[in-house]
Amino acid sequence: MSPVGEHYFSADPSVPFRRQPVTARVWGHELRLVSGSGVFAQGRLDVGTAVLFRETEPPTARSYLDLGCGYGVIALALATAVPGSVVRAVDVNERAVRLAGENAASLRLGDRVRVSTPGEVPADETYEEIWSNPPVRIGKPALHDLLLTWLPRVRPGGRAVLVVGRNLGADSLQRWLDEQGHPTVRLASAKGFRVLEVRAG
Ligand SMILES: C[S@@+](CC[C@H](N)C(=O)[O-])C[C@H]1O[C@@H](n2cnc3c(N)ncnc32)[C@H](O)[C@@H]1O
Repeated sequence: MSPVGEHYFSADPSVPFRRQPVTARVWGHELRLVSGSGVFAQGRLDVGTAVLFRETEPPTARSYLDLGCGYGVIALALATAVPGSVVRAVDVNERAVRLAGENAASLRLGDRVRVSTPGEVPADETYEEIWSNPPVRIGKPALHDLLLTWLPRVRPGGRAVLVVGRNLGADSLQRWLDEQGHPTVRLASAKGFRVLEVRAG
């Protein structure tokens, strides 16, 4: 994860809202999106997120969660890569939820990409796969809580794919996930980031 405004994850950022376009090339598709101030990776594709895309094969599952969606680039890349798939995108930042929803609508993916705050997700909703550049900067206890909240929603045989900075504790996170009963392997390592795959039993 790259350095960003320290409050990118606040629920209601107080900085004035300025939109800024971003173009991302993901798994052979060009996505034209809009980012914004007070939302992670304003005006750019985050380096960690770029590593996540570059180091993975285009996915094939039919249902996904993008955990901590920001302006929605992972959710929209998944929905674009797999026609007919359904994606839930969540973020605590209201501005991120707004941008991700607008981006889904402008790509005509609004019927398959459901964007919301975490609290709005039905308790029984499950996913084949979770994809996430998780909010490591919320601190280790909060990150652990977040993962233990959402990983049980991965269906048997499914997986979570996470990108985490090596200097932000990727290797200790991998060990901790293993210890929690979530077998985790490193899929790739590039530009100071690890791509981790967490297998559901
Ligand atoms: C590293 S950013 C990734 C954003 C986006 N997926 C991307 O790749 O550009 C992590 C995101 O997680 C969000 N976040 C922080 N705490 C969260 C929580 N408890 N539940 C859901 N999202 C959270 C932040 O607001 C931020 O947008």
